[in-house]
Amino acid sequence: PTPSLLILPGDGIGPEVMAEVRRIIDWYGAKRGLVFDVTEDLVGGCAYDAHGTPLTDATMAKAQEVDAVLLGAVGGPKYDDLDFSVKPERGLLRLRKEMDLYANLRPAQCFDALADFSSLKREVVAGLDILILRELTSGIYFGEPRGIIREGNERVGINTQRYTESEIARIARSAFELARKRSNKVCSMEKANVMESGILWRQVVTEIHQAEYPDVELSHMYADAGAMQLSRWPKQFDVIVTDNLFGDLLSDLAAMLTGSLGMLPSASLGAPMANGRPKALYEPVHGSAPDIAGQEKANPIACILSFAMALRYSFDKGDEAERLEKAVEAVLAKGYRTPDLMAAEGGTQVTTKGMGDAILAALDES
Ligand code: NAI
Ligand code: MG
Repeated sequence: PTPSLLILPGDGIGPEVMAEVRRIIDWYGAKRGLVFDVTEDLVGGCAYDAHGTPLTDATMAKAQEVDAVLLGAVGGPKYDDLDFSVKPERGLLRLRKEMDLYANLRPAQCFDALADFSSLKREVVAGLDILILRELTSGIYFGEPRGIIREGNERVGINTQRYTESEIARIARSAFELARKRSNKVCSMEKANVMESGILWRQVVTEIHQAEYPDVELSHMYADAGAMQLSRWPKQFDVIVTDNLFGDLLSDLAAMLTGSLGMLPSASLGAPMANGRPKALYEPVHGSAPDIAGQEKANPIACILSFAMALRYSFDKGDEAERLEKAVEAVLAKGYRTPDLMAAEGGTQVTTKGMGDAILAALDES
């Protein structure tokens, strides 16, 4: 059957960057025989304007049945004063929750041409390509008991780090599956030296590895040491798998190794569906950028690389994902820059559509 995609451009620069992705999807259909059954729909503020809700039940149902959802961005000043129950981000939160997307993928990729954007030395980051896998639906942000209680004459703030064996097992399986589509190497990070949940995490990851994925190389690191290694020599890693709290910190740290927000893709995966593909939502890390919306200034690369992730992780087209990433790399090497990437040494400034044109031309040459 034809692979299916639900495209939700959203608000602000969302539709601008998604228009470039649409052209790339069309290119794959015309030039590589890779045809997708694409449906486009509303999410966020635009859905509220049309239907009075940031995500209709019909769109939610569609998201549950397609092979992958690709989202632009939601929100904007026009919607800031709406009631919390209909705010644009509620549309996104509903998608994540009802699809039960427990595995959050944040790649840190550094294209050679942009290595000087990093806060680290060029040789540390040039060519970097690692993936932080963060558990997203459990752990200390959700564990009970929680709250601020009174104890004697003072207040106590309480959160609970809690992981079940099955929650650890499913994120571990995600990590090993992803590693098999990359460089076959997983580093698991926790604090088994001081946390019970960390001890269980290490045990379960080790058990799943031995029983189901002995072909993948596995190592363990305490998360604090991991943060040091990540900023010292990040190229030692391929997939890093960690819990919700440590993943929050480590993925933001990793993102800054590589530079502009306009370059960062992400994915959130859930349980495998009947066809074996995981439920999946792909989206750029950035928001709707109201300060540049409607000006043809947005960098479409984060959204384009999110589609490349869909090719690799939902559709098993790692070679085609690489083709697209190589096209992006070639365009950057030639000096094409959207305004967010304009460095002191210059380059050729292009619009959102100009960047799309250049990437399509590079695909034609691939
Ligand atoms: P933002 O990511 O939209 O923008 C932050 C800064 O980065 C801005 O200066 C913007 O111009 C720039 N930027 C972002 N993406 C860019 C791109 N592709 N190309 C060039 N420059 C880019 O974050 P901000 O300003 O905090 O939020 C704006 C709106 O977006 C808010 O309504 C917020 O709630 C929403 N938002 C939505 C997200 C989502 O849909 N997943 C995530 C983050 C924020
Ligand atoms: Mg964070």
